[in-house]
Amino acid sequence: MLILAPSILAADFSRLGDEIRTVDAAGAQYIHIDVMDGAFVPSISFGMPVIERVRGCTDRVFDVHMMVEAPERYIGAMRKAGADIICVHAEACRHLDRALNQIRETGAKAAVAINPATPVETLSCVLGEADMFLLMTVNPGFGGQKLIPYTLDKVRRLRAMLNEAGLSADIEVDGGIGTANVRDAIEAGANVIVAGTSVFKGDPAANTREFLKIMAEYENA
Ligand code: DX5
Ligand code: ZN
Repeated sequence: MLILAPSILAADFSRLGDEIRTVDAAGAQYIHIDVMDGAFVPSISFGMPVIERVRGCTDRVFDVHMMVEAPERYIGAMRKAGADIICVHAEACRHLDRALNQIRETGAKAAVAINPATPVETLSCVLGEADMFLLMTVNPGFGGQKLIPYTLDKVRRLRAMLNEAGLSADIEVDGGIGTANVRDAIEAGANVIVAGTSVFKGDPAANTREFLKIMAEYENA
């Protein structure tokens, strides 16, 4: 199934609840939540208290992308705050297998992210241990960047690796995705699409519907 996950990093934080309700009402299935610690990535965004407060705004899936060093420290707290999917970076975990198990023990879905320059082969041992794999299509840390084209080759390779292993995990792409290149990501094998700037800049409801329209072409094909 194709899923749209608007990234609230690009939302107007002064009216965050309304922004979330808008994309929910327009049909976005996930809310992508970027947690940045100022160590794993240069910037700092927000954490548990904000997630907890907006949890009441929607029943949509909270897809929490932790751009955090040693994220194991916060898995329990993220789940408590309302995360449905908890995504840790392979580069940030000393014990990735353990971290994924810890996530699943909370009842959340487990996801692993890798940066553009991290080879997909890094994921080969944990193909069966995660529900979703997030392939960064920009260097994490900021919204509004341009997609790095070689990252889509990684999507193709990972989809082939999963198929070969008889697994149907989700592949999420994140960074620089807009209505002009979302087809490339889908055709490469991604099925969860993160979009920040291209959803929240301008008219978020119309932008969400535009994405969903494109995605529906594939569902009905
Ligand atoms: C980047 C974040 C992304 C970001 C995407 O570090 O992980 O989720 O918000 O933003 P856009 O879609 O604007 O590139
Ligand atoms: Zn993200």
